[in-house]
Amino acid sequence: MPAVNSTSVLFVCLGNICRSPTAEGVFTALAAREGLLESMHIDSCGTGDWHIGSAPDSRATAAAAERGYDISQLRGRQVDSSDFDRFDYILAMDEDNLSELEALRPGHYRGHLGLFLEFAADTALTNVPDPYYKGEEGFVQVLDLIESASAGLLQRIAGGYS
Ligand code: 4NP
Repeated sequence: MPAVNSTSVLFVCLGNICRSPTAEGVFTALAAREGLLESMHIDSCGTGDWHIGSAPDSRATAAAAERGYDISQLRGRQVDSSDFDRFDYILAMDEDNLSELEALRPGHYRGHLGLFLEFAADTALTNVPDPYYKGEEGFVQVLDLIESASAGLLQRIAGGYS
């Protein structure tokens, strides 16, 4: 586990080309804005293996860029059991992703494995809806939810530093 005053966060979705790279980009930007980036390790991955090495979906990259986030350099990877040794927070975008992660979770894991939207104050949704087969408005909704949950998560983590 990381040293004191250091927190590692892994965002997980299905393909690692839409939701979780967006979460990685948004949360990284927010942590940087608050001067907390140096005390964090932030990453994302997918439960599936179809998009290993791929850039984010162009619709996700465009929607993120509209709000000033550059996720174009991120590349897809698949979750690995070693992630449970490296991340304090492992946050799933939806309940299907969470089920996959719970099946991989080693008994000794003492970090926080849960749903990302637990940290979003202003939504009744449990899941970040998968935008892959939707239109552009699906990607806008993803950004709204992810920005809200990122703010809540950073507040939680920063509270632990004070
Ligand atoms: P993501 O979206 O899980 O948010 O990255 C998807 C990307 C690809 C696929 C499904 C969801 N796919 O079936 O290839």
